[in-house]
Amino acid sequence: MKPTEVKPDVLQLNPILVPAINEKLNQLYTVHRLFEQEDKAAYLAAHGAAIRGVITGGHTGIGNDMIVKLPALQVIAVNGVGTDAVDLAFARERGIPVTATFGALTEDVADLAIGLILAACREICAGHQFVKTGDWQRNPHPGALPLSRRFSGKRVGIVGMGKVGRAIAQRAAAFGCPIAYTDLREIGDVPHRFVADLTQLARDSDILVLAAAADKAQGIVNAAVLDALGKDGYLINIARGKLVVEADLVDALTRGAIAGAGLDVFVDEPNVPEALFTMDRVVLQAHRASATVESRTAMGEMVLASLAAGLAGGRPEGSLTT
Ligand code: 8YV
Repeated sequence: MKPTEVKPDVLQLNPILVPAINEKLNQLYTVHRLFEQEDKAAYLAAHGAAIRGVITGGHTGIGNDMIVKLPALQVIAVNGVGTDAVDLAFARERGIPVTATFGALTEDVADLAIGLILAACREICAGHQFVKTGDWQRNPHPGALPLSRRFSGKRVGIVGMGKVGRAIAQRAAAFGCPIAYTDLREIGDVPHRFVADLTQLARDSDILVLAAAADKAQGIVNAAVLDALGKDGYLINIARGKLVVEADLVDALTRGAIAGAGLDVFVDEPNVPEALFTMDRVVLQAHRASATVESRTAMGEMVLASLAAGLAGGRPEGSLTT
């Protein structure tokens, strides 16, 4: 950009944690950090007309009520893979490209899914607390902690066999786990058993892993699915909280209808049902599956590329709406 050129205005809806990406954004654009504003409505009223690009997170997305306040908008870059919080049809009607960071976070999200499985089955967090709080010294009896459960060889059912689902399957296979999956339809190049019905997949699984997009699928994991998973079964969710009827999950854990859970995502983040806080077989994360330097750098680079293409009037690579 030449010194005389005016930098395009970009609205940022939540933070980017990679300094190098923020530096590049600031070099190229006038970045309006909406997440830092006290009075967001007043800020939008003052700057909305100038905004040409939006950066948002997968979970945050952007409401149609905000899109209509940005008449010069040329591109929405989602810094994530979930597009369930953006009305793609609405953006398509207005010719606004929407991009996501497909492929950039696959390995890390799959890694965390395996981490949550191991942590839940082996009760790693309860063991960690037992040592750190001095309980082990106070109570050095070998039976002070109950026996945990093995992961290797367990039947893993994957809900959503996209990039992340496949990466989880690859990892679970290395643990000797038989794998089955469900999706909208059987996928030709996936070597694992397809089970059309989610309840049947739960019945056939020791560990049910949610890796599905939540654009249309809300509340698909309910009491019936959890009962089918059974008292020795574990639920792992690295996708979206709203795939699960959270009240049914809390109830299933409370009455021992399933053995445990590993959860990175929730219906109303950052609010998590308090009943989960005291359960040793429930492992909780603060929506951090893609929160590595590696993923977030790659995601940030994709956001930069989308903004550059969109603001130049072109079609950003992988645009979902144009
Ligand atoms: C991110 C996500 O935490 O990819 C997604 O859809 O929800 C996560 O990777 C979020 O988008 C960060 O901005």
